[in-house]
Amino acid sequence: MAVQLNHTIVHATDKKASAEFLAGLLGLEVQPQFGPFLPVVVANDVALDFADAGDGAITPQHYAFLVSEEEFDAIFARIEDAGLTYYADPSRRRPGEINHNDGGRGVYWADPDGHFMEIITRPYGSGS
Ligand SMILES: [Fe+2]
Repeated sequence: MAVQLNHTIVHATDKKASAEFLAGLLGLEVQPQFGPFLPVVVANDVALDFADAGDGAITPQHYAFLVSEEEFDAIFARIEDAGLTYYADPSRRRPGEINHNDGGRGVYWADPDGHFMEIITRPYGSGS
């Protein structure tokens, strides 16, 4: 049995702004609207389907992306160019830093609705 995550819904105040924010930073394209969703699809074919939350409160979620060292350089440069506050840790105690967990690099930042995004170059627990 090979179960794969296929899509998840990311609630947003403005789905277009949020989808473009994430896609722009990650170097991806926002896909054509599908029903109420604006998808951002990553390399392993998981779609993050951005959807407007309407009047409902948005509960911030956490999304982490595994990237190459070269992609990390490009994405992190875009984070810095955008003037975003970034953190080395999920508890936001180390602003303006990245981490080197598992022998790689990682960094966190918040999207317009507070969803906490992360890029890592090594999966959790993969370091020696
Ligand atoms: Fe994480």
